[in-house]
Amino acid sequence: MRVYDLINNKKHGGQLSDEEIKFLIDGYVKGDIPDYQMSAMLMAIYFKGMNLSETTALTRAMVESGETIDLSFIDGIKVDKHSTGGVGDKTSLVLLPLMALCGLKVSKMSGRGLGHTGGTIDKLESIPGFNVNLDRDEMFYIVEKFGFAISGQTLDLVPADKKLYALRDVTATVDNLSLIASSIMSKKIASGADIILLDVKVGSGAFMKNVDDAVQLAEMMVSIGKSFGRKVGIVLSNMEEPLGFAVGNSLEVIEAVKTLSNEGPEDFTTLCVFLNATMLKLSGICDTLEEGLEKTKALLKTDDPFLKFVDFVYAQKGDTTYIKDLTKFEKSKYAYKVISTSEGYIKTIDAEKIGLCSLVAGAGRATKEEEIDHTAGVILHKKVGDQVAFGDALGVIYTNKSDEKEALTESFYEAFGFSSEPVRKNNVIIGMVDDHGFIDMRK
Ligand code: URA
Repeated sequence: MRVYDLINNKKHGGQLSDEEIKFLIDGYVKGDIPDYQMSAMLMAIYFKGMNLSETTALTRAMVESGETIDLSFIDGIKVDKHSTGGVGDKTSLVLLPLMALCGLKVSKMSGRGLGHTGGTIDKLESIPGFNVNLDRDEMFYIVEKFGFAISGQTLDLVPADKKLYALRDVTATVDNLSLIASSIMSKKIASGADIILLDVKVGSGAFMKNVDDAVQLAEMMVSIGKSFGRKVGIVLSNMEEPLGFAVGNSLEVIEAVKTLSNEGPEDFTTLCVFLNATMLKLSGICDTLEEGLEKTKALLKTDDPFLKFVDFVYAQKGDTTYIKDLTKFEKSKYAYKVISTSEGYIKTIDAEKIGLCSLVAGAGRATKEEEIDHTAGVILHKKVGDQVAFGDALGVIYTNKSDEKEALTESFYEAFGFSSEPVRKNNVIIGMVDDHGFIDMRK
């Protein structure tokens, strides 16, 4: 087999066989196939696409490139959750305690943020002492005892994705449905859960800019899951504006803890409740989505979600006094309030722009090597649809940088669009995709 012939075939819109795809992935991971040939192949795939059979074969070859986790000796229903990435997306911090309280077991591998989106691991590291580097035994022990654990990628799961993703990132080939589907599904399948819930973000701050593409991606991922004997449920959620009010690591942990005590922002709480209800239905714990919604809302009115989170922080060696007293979290030196010079209604809040503003404030990395400032980020004071008067605060930027006030304030303001007419609030839930296709839930 010659890589040249495979690239040429794909360039002309041909279909790659399972063996050819396996040859490409194995050769690339081993270093036998150089980056320049894989880049050409990625670009050919980008323009000519892959069908479902090729995408499934790609996923399989990626899973087989590294270790896989066998969760079968943990009692109970093993589930996993993944989001395609957004701004202000602290959903795992709320959803995992809820799922564990409902009797599900979650052993979750999470990533760090890159670009304008945040990563769960960085958020958790803003809790002093918190250990994100669990080995396999520690992870399983915590899942058995507390119901869930979250760790960085300490095992060598899907090395093909690490290498391919880095290459896609610098060759402008990230946003292809087959490449995204195989990247996400290979990691979820290697992690061993029987049921996988995916939160596919749609909008300006997400990879999927429109609902049609998101539905296509979702249907592909459901089919791939089926080929591996996994049940996959997908929720499409809105990423036209940041989720909740907080963007930035410790700021998001604080918002998540408040949400666990039923004092969170409306959109974020709605999404967490809906995701948990979907998982309860998928796993057969509840017969209907409505029953799941009722059960989750009732749970949030109790102290149990908060206490479950305290247990989790304790199990992963974090300082629980910070969770019990949120004022203990260190604050950034500067808080720049951004004032509205328009009046009317908030029409848009560009999630990507807010994410980038938070990144520049110190909350994210522009390169892999950069250190994160856990105190930095933004708190929005307005959401889409809110009325605004001259002089109202649109939000506050938290940073330790003294020389960026003007640039940060300007970039924050640029994320906002205004209207003189009333504007409808965004529906955080767009719809669901399962075996039976897409259910549109926009009101
Ligand atoms: N998230 C992933 O894990 N992979 C992609 O390709 C895109 C989003």
